[in-house]
Amino acid sequence: MSLSVKDALHKRISTRAFLDKPVTETELRALIDDARFAASGGNLQPWKVVAVAGEARQRVMDAVSKKLAENPFDDEAQFPVYPEKLWEPYRTRRYELGEDMYALMGVPREDKAARLNWLMQNYQFFGAPVGLFFLIDERMNPNQWAHLGMFMMSLALAAQERGLATCFQEAWTPHCKTVGRALGVESPDQVYCGMAIGYADPDAAVNQLRSKRAPVDEIARFEGF
Ligand SMILES: Cc1cc2nc3c(=O)[nH]c(=O)nc-3n(C[C@H](O)[C@H](O)[C@H](O)COP(=O)(O)O)c2cc1C
Repeated sequence: MSLSVKDALHKRISTRAFLDKPVTETELRALIDDARFAASGGNLQPWKVVAVAGEARQRVMDAVSKKLAENPFDDEAQFPVYPEKLWEPYRTRRYELGEDMYALMGVPREDKAARLNWLMQNYQFFGAPVGLFFLIDERMNPNQWAHLGMFMMSLALAAQERGLATCFQEAWTPHCKTVGRALGVESPDQVYCGMAIGYADPDAAVNQLRSKRAPVDEIARFEGF
């Protein structure tokens, strides 16, 4: 199968419902083999990835479920996922994403329980058979975190080319130490973010979501042309 870079960029979406269809280690190895060609400053390649399926996937889910039951607000992350109070235009963008997603699923604003329930789906990888966790050395600077992001996006596009669907998951980030312990991740490596990966359920309402994007003129300035 072949997909242009442009098509992969346009077709990749965050998939939040998956079919019960396995992804093999061979397939995952091929994705990582492609993604490792992502660029990084100084060619540091400041990324590692742990893939979990079967028992290992269950182990992580169990560890985080236990933590959520005992201490749900304990944030283990080196940096909070979002700045404390978002400002415009970011606040509205985040708000609209949530509203659009819940509207598709028919969950009203007032139904806090249903919304929370949905958020908890993150900790089941939205039903995906495989989870990935991206690691970074805790001594790295913000620059290297950006480069890790390039690796992550490269992997998502490589997955798209192979008919696989993904969802990046910072939902795991506040529980990164718990995840790390469950997977034997040792300092200085730390877990940054998760990713659900598998085959999209084409009939799931949530997978019809197409997030809005700011137009070119809002994000770019051209000079000297
Ligand atoms: C680093 C990162 C972490 C994310 N974490 C989550 C998450 O925990 N749960 C979730 O449902 N979506 C998560 N997302 C998905 C974003 O909401 C999504 O990328 C954004 O709304 C744009 O939509 P699209 O990916 O469908 O194009 C994450 C995206 C990124 C890049």
